[in-house]
Amino acid sequence: MSQTLTLIRPDDWHLHLRDGAMLCAVLPETTRHFARAIIMPNLVPPVVTGADAQAYRSRIIAAMPEGADFTPLMTLYLTEDTDAQDVAAAHASGLITAVKLYPAGATTNSASGVADFDRVRGVLERMAEIGLPLCLHGEVTDPDIDIFDREAAFIDRVLDPLRRATPGLKTVLEHITTKDGVDYARSQDDLAATITTHHLIINRNHILVGGIKPHYYCLPVAKRESHRLALRAAATSGDSRFFLGTDSAPHTDMLKENACGCAGCFTASNTMAILAHVFEEENALERLEGFTSRHGPAFYGLPTNKATLTLSKGAAYTSPDKIPTDDGPVTVFDPGFELQWKVT
Ligand code: NCD
Ligand code: ZN
Repeated sequence: MSQTLTLIRPDDWHLHLRDGAMLCAVLPETTRHFARAIIMPNLVPPVVTGADAQAYRSRIIAAMPEGADFTPLMTLYLTEDTDAQDVAAAHASGLITAVKLYPAGATTNSASGVADFDRVRGVLERMAEIGLPLCLHGEVTDPDIDIFDREAAFIDRVLDPLRRATPGLKTVLEHITTKDGVDYARSQDDLAATITTHHLIINRNHILVGGIKPHYYCLPVAKRESHRLALRAAATSGDSRFFLGTDSAPHTDMLKENACGCAGCFTASNTMAILAHVFEEENALERLEGFTSRHGPAFYGLPTNKATLTLSKGAAYTSPDKIPTDDGPVTVFDPGFELQWKVT
């Protein structure tokens, strides 16, 4: 007998949709399962002003597949020149849901990010006043800090001082990859942490053992196994400070399978099937809805979705390995095992 699981329709609290041909190709992979997503602003050039966000939102709406019921939740890319008044106006009009802070140079298209945190203090204070959440890429960029230590160093050197200096600022520590991130989130108020699908599956061995696997390379980079286990425990714990942000980040195969391969795993297509597998393995299927559909809206002060999504468990299958785009194929994240859960 097949087993089914019906959830409140999920949301994705960290998603890269890109623009142009890539946007058109990847958007249906998200709208098929998700009702809303926080849309990352790291386009080239980035989405910096309210006007940029308005224009990008229109391009997303225009690319939406027929009949899709999906709301893009827009964000602004914080720079040292960001105008607090523009941010407040974009928030007041309902255009934006969060502001994204990338430490300059931390990841893909982050060159315009923040180097001197004192220069964004005014904007952060204004955000705390108006209740606008800050989404953080939590890695330091200091070349002296080992890439595997960059999240933990960020928490100590940047995040904790920033939060003490800006009380009441709602903060999302995004795509956490370490036990340090889990522990910090558990110790704080007004702070949540998103967890990706792929960081529940892979550790750093998956990237490096037996040949370099570019499709498992993303930022923050996957850490050692003890960290993956801490993430799995947090995601499946039912603690409302942890929720799904896939960080699904499409790059064409040509750009991934390259001497200088881009960072990002593309998980939009099979995230829900993989998560059902993980939560079942952890005997926590009844907590999947909290992680994908309840904790995120509660943190952001938004209603949960009215619609539902049903998965059923049946014969083992492997997810499609690529999706075509006019720029070239994009490889879908391979969890390394067969799936049984499928969105019906
Ligand atoms: C993201 C991208 O490709 O835009 N890449 C990634 O590895 N996650 C950027 C980001 O979120 O760090
Ligand atoms: Zn991202």
